[in-house]
Amino acid sequence: MIFAANFKMHHTRASTTEYLDQLDKLLAEAEYPFKTIVFPPATALQPSREWITVGAQNAYPEERGAFTGEIGLDQLKEFGLDTVLIGHSERRNILGEEQEFLAKKFAFYAGHGFQIVYCVGEPLEVREAGDEAVAEYLWEQFDGIDLDYERLVVAYEPIWAIGTGRAAKVEEIAATHAELRRRIARPILYGGSVKPTNIKEIASVKDVDGVLVGGASLEVESFFSLMVAIAPPQV
Ligand code: PGA
Repeated sequence: MIFAANFKMHHTRASTTEYLDQLDKLLAEAEYPFKTIVFPPATALQPSREWITVGAQNAYPEERGAFTGEIGLDQLKEFGLDTVLIGHSERRNILGEEQEFLAKKFAFYAGHGFQIVYCVGEPLEVREAGDEAVAEYLWEQFDGIDLDYERLVVAYEPIWAIGTGRAAKVEEIAATHAELRRRIARPILYGGSVKPTNIKEIASVKDVDGVLVGGASLEVESFFSLMVAIAPPQV
């Protein structure tokens, strides 16, 4: 299982450092076989910890250059980071990132050997149109993406489930992950209102290899409790 925390525009440098310190300690004590990734905001980027991989929520597909407001490979390398999130629906929809640009980012960071958590997800009207419409929509979001890239992690995040408190139903998750699994051998995470009360049933769905968590990851106790729910520490 992979547990990934997406802070979005929450947490400062100081609170992120405190969070990572606390979580790393809990993980060291629990000795979980889980992989843990935390995506803090760009200003709080810092080296990965012993038990936590730190990743960037976004990065521009260049080493450096005239790209006002962006960070690139040089800025990530300063912290020894090699994990990046690409294609989150907030970047697609709010920041207007197009598929072609996402494919360019993917190719650039894959070319530099990064672990890439690549997000896809459909809006509500597509979900309401049925499984076939969802499949078609999602596969289009893989245009230009190398599905065989060895450090690819896919995150399926239905847009209507993100931050709404309404996670997809287990049947919807199962059907969608099975569809993605037809062509993707790499880990597939589910994201969208994952919380301590639904983690167990979501994690038990076939082809769910982990979760990408927003709101419920912001407090260490809450994020850690997702892991505890699946595997209570041995005493
Ligand atoms: P949420 O966000 O857990 O708050 O729904 C998930 C995400 O956007 O990655």
